[in-house]
Formats: sequence, C-alpha cells, structure tokens
Amino acid sequence: MLFDTFRTLALALAVTTQYAFAQRFYGPEDPRLQIQITTQNPINGVSKTPDGRIFVAYARVDGSTGPQIAEWDQTTNTSTAYPNEKWNSYSDGDDPATHFVGINSQRVGPDGNLYVVDKGATAIGGAVMFPYGPKLVVVDTQTNEVSKVYFMGNVTRSNSLLDDVRFNPITGKAYLTDAGSPGLIVLDLLTGNAIRVLDDDASTGATTAVSAEGTLLHLGSKPAFIYADQLELSPNAKYFYYQPASGGMSRIETKLLDQATYNSSLNSNSVLGLFVEPYANTPSTGGTAIDAEGNIYVSDVDSQRIIKIFPNSTMTLLVQDPRLLWVDAMWIDLQHRLWLPAAQLNRGIPFQGKNLEEAPLYVFSIDIGVGPSQIDHA
Ligand SMILES: *[C@@H]1O[C@H](CO)[C@@H](O)[C@H](O)[C@H]1NC(C)=O
Ligand SMILES: *[C@@H]1O[C@H](CO)[C@@H](O)[C@H](O)[C@H]1NC(C)=O
Ligand SMILES: *[C@@H]1O[C@H](CO)[C@@H](O)[C@H](O)[C@H]1NC(C)=O
Ligand SMILES: *[C@@H]1O[C@H](CO)[C@@H](O)[C@H](O)[C@H]1NC(C)=O
Repeated sequence: MLFDTFRTLALALAVTTQYAFAQRFYGPEDPRLQIQITTQNPINGVSKTPDGRIFVAYARVDGSTGPQIAEWDQTTNTSTAYPNEKWNSYSDGDDPATHFVGINSQRVGPDGNLYVVDKGATAIGGAVMFPYGPKLVVVDTQTNEVSKVYFMGNVTRSNSLLDDVRFNPITGKAYLTDAGSPGLIVLDLLTGNAIRVLDDDASTGATTAVSAEGTLLHLGSKPAFIYADQLELSPNAKYFYYQPASGGMSRIETKLLDQATYNSSLNSNSVLGLFVEPYANTPSTGGTAIDAEGNIYVSDVDSQRIIKIFPNSTMTLLVQDPRLLWVDAMWIDLQHRLWLPAAQLNRGIPFQGKNLEEAPLYVFSIDIGVGPSQIDHA
C-alpha cells in the first residue's frame, strides 16, 4: 500500500517533469512478465482471434527481409506469411494495390477479421505511393484471404504515415491516425468514404521529437517528429483518445468525428479543434491498449514501463522492467493478459542509421485482471 502510494507519487513526478527525469530503467526485472514469443526480428504488433490464433507484424527496422504480416504458431514457435507469400512479397515495380508495401500496424477487428494498415511507403518517411499504396486491408480469418481493401490515397498526402486503426461498430466507422501529416481519418466501413479531420490541429501535431531510453530520436539529421499515432475508443464509444508518439493525450467526443463525415461546417475553420480536451500528460509512447473498464495502458519508451491511465485520467504504474524496450502496439486477450511486443524500434536502422537492436527480442504478457474493451475487439 505504502509502496503503491510511493510508486504513484514518483510516477506523477516523473510524468509531469518527463524531460528532466526521462531515463533508461536498468532493473530489476519484474517476474510477473511472461515471455510469449522469442524472436530474432522485431515484432511491433500482436493481436489474437477469440479462438487463440496469433498474428504479428514484423517491423523490419533491423534490415531483415521476409513477411511483414505473419501468423505465429506457439506450438512450434515458427511464423508463416499471412494471408500468403504474395501479399508479403512486395518489391519495386509490383502492384501496390495487391501487396503490403510497408506495414505499420495490424489488429483483429470486432468482426474477427484481421485489419492491416499499410502506410504505402517502403520506409518510415519514405515516398508514399499514390493512389493504391496507403490502405486498410481486411483479411477474412475464416478463408484466410483478403476480403476488402480500403484505399486511402484520397485522404493521405505525400508526407503521410498512415499509422493505426480503431473501430466503432455502432456507427460503422473506423478511425485512423496519420503520424506523418498530422490528422485523423474517419472511414465509413460500408461505403468506403473517408475524410480527414483535425488536420494540423495542436492535438494531432507534436511540439517535441519522440525520445526513447532517455534520448531524443532523429530521422536522418532531423529530430523525429511522429504525429497522431496512438488511438483508443472508450468502451461506451463516447470518447476517442489519441496522441502523437511524443505524448500528450487528447480526447474528443466520437460523435463529433462521425458528424464531420456529413456536416462539412464542423470540419472547416478548425471548428472540431474547439471540442478537443487535453486528457493525460503521457510520455514518449510506443503503443497503447484499452480494457473493458476504460483504463488505457501506455508504454513509456523512455523508462521501460507501462503506465495505466484510469478513466478519470489519473496515471499509475503497471509494470517497469528493463526488457520493456520500446513496447509497441499492445493487445489485451480474453484471458486478461496484456501482450507487450518489445520491438526496440528506437535501436533500428530508421533512427540509428544502422541496426543496434539486440536479439533475441521478446513479446511479453502480464495479467491485468480485466479483459479487452468489447466494442473494438472480437
Ligand atoms: C516457444 O517459445 C516460448 C517463448 O520463448 C517458450 O517458452 C517455449 O518453451 C517454446 N516452445 C517450444 C516448443 O520451443
Ligand atoms: C479517389 O476519389 C475519386 C473521386 O471520388 C475516385 O474516383 C477514386 O477511385 C478515389 N481513389 C482512391 C484510391 O480511392
Ligand atoms: C453542423 O455543425 C455546425 C458546427 O458545429 C452546427 O452549428 C450545425 O448545427 C451542424 N449541422 C447539422 C445539420 O448537424
Ligand atoms: C481515479 O480513479 C482511480 C481508480 O478508480 C482512483 O483510485 C482514484 O482515487 C481516482 N482519482 C481521483 C483524483 O479521482
């Protein structure tokens, strides 16, 4: 109890003065972490179907080649290109409409299918291939075939980095973040119509570069600004939460995002921006997840910890362990375990110019005593 209070206080201090205190955590290890996957190549996203199939995204920031999306078999500890080799075999000159060009994220959607976000560029900050590079690809997990592709060429820009997706089955919308050209995208899943909202709003942009292990990151010679990146929908669909990777989480009422698809006056002259509320003073973040009670888990890539944000926006420490090196897109499974892919992305080629990742890498999990938010989850 005392210890918990101390931890909460220490965390509050560290979070409010994040730049002064942001530093690498060297130990001790936390025995609650269970190793789920041991891998030679970084995995920056993991998701599961209700019947336990596991899908992973390979970030390839270590310079390795091979599939970007794969199914992981825990009985043999091997992975297989998913949905097949062809989608995963893009090379120069291939049709971007029928290949994964450059995957940023993947997740099992509320319908049990796998949704893959393709930034449509072969590298972070690379040239976006219009119009069929940037897309949301739906793989039917029953037939293991691509069942639908939402092309995002009309709502992305040459500097876009289509980042991640969440779903609102009540209104049939999907929401995506653009980490390259600050903004959000609202996609109608039935019609395929999409609009951009909160373009260049303070809440989708970033005033500082992202940092990790206590060091500001660069892309080439420039500070690495990673705009609207992490996103979550509250379990009752009322709020949409989002933030740049460098932190500072905002929220907006989801209904306003949905209304902007048919009320253009809401989406002009920065009107939507007036409804944005600051939510939590989060640190530099690799990924998030939200549970059935509306608690948001945030991975602090500076200090190798996972912060839990209660719905009243109070932050507390869930776990800190030196092995939690750039935990990226997390996942909560039906067994109440939070999956933590420690991708070491900051040590990869895009940020370092060479590969400084230390294999093997791990996907951990930890019991959080609560299941996933059902609205966005199969
Ligand atoms: C598969 O990998 C996990 C995690 O590293 C390990 O605990 C398990 O023993 C491995 N299983 C086999 C069959 O090698
Ligand atoms: C972009 O919009 C135009 C006009 O509505 C449409 O014809 C075209 O198919 C769209 N392109 C993509 C890639 O969605
Ligand atoms: C459209 O949005 C504007 C700005 O918020 C609002 O004043 C107006 O009532 C809305 N119109 C409709 C039809 O919802
Ligand atoms: C916020 O919620 C948490 C969890 O329910 C609770 O422990 C805490 O006291 C609340 N803090 C405030 C300031 O209301």
